[in-house]
Amino acid sequence: MAPMSWDEAFANRYEEWSAPMTADISFYVELAREADGPLVELAIGNGRVAIPVAQATGRSVAGVDTSPAMLEQAQRNAARAGVTLDLRLADMRELTVNEPAALIYCPFRSLQHLPTWADRRRTFERVAACLRSDGRFAWNAFVFDHRLAAQYDGQHRDKPVPHRVHYAIAENRIDLTLDGGGKSSLWWATKNEWLGLIDVAGLEVEALYGSFTREPFTENSGEYIFITRPRQLPKS
Ligand SMILES: C[S@@+](CC[C@H](N)C(=O)[O-])C[C@H]1O[C@@H](n2cnc3c(N)ncnc32)[C@H](O)[C@@H]1O
Repeated sequence: MAPMSWDEAFANRYEEWSAPMTADISFYVELAREADGPLVELAIGNGRVAIPVAQATGRSVAGVDTSPAMLEQAQRNAARAGVTLDLRLADMRELTVNEPAALIYCPFRSLQHLPTWADRRRTFERVAACLRSDGRFAWNAFVFDHRLAAQYDGQHRDKPVPHRVHYAIAENRIDLTLDGGGKSSLWWATKNEWLGLIDVAGLEVEALYGSFTREPFTENSGEYIFITRPRQLPKS
């Protein structure tokens, strides 16, 4: 099975696919409320998080995504909710902004759709270049669990949308293929890989949580939830 970062057909079932994921919304809304400048979402998708962020802050959210089908949904959902999103068909590896951002965020493990460390490094460097000096970059990603990998590999699963799972262990990759068509792959990264990306991009960790209710990250956590900022120079 060839890797496919994000297949357009996946968009047809995305509302159902993402329906169980609600815990992250208040986390990103709170960060947006604390940011007193431009807000940017990487891989904005159908606006699942950006719309509540725009509603809570009364501000527009700029969002990039490479999927025309997902952006169409975002446009429709935003109009229905009565909010403005500044949607751009663009790749997060090439992020540009009109004005430096106070908050750039990337929910629902979307950085894991980038296949290589170089793709992520490029993204982190673009993020750092687009952030204000007092800005923040936040994202979440799953912690790879070999026990789950062994359990799910080759399995058919019914929820949230019937699909098959394939773990390409040697490639650090998970392929999800929906029964009705639509494929998506995610490449997992270790904690040290995330820390390396933060370092090379000139960022630093402000907080690392293990849950969206801000519990500390521990060796048993299932999710990395990072808040980072441009590296502060030591005071002389
Ligand atoms: C799991 S969805 C997340 C959507 C939304 N952020 C959310 O939280 O519901 C992943 C999204 O990543 C987008 N995507 C994948 N690779 C991308 C890239 N290189 N640049 C921008 N968007 C990308 C897909 O098109 C898809 O909309």
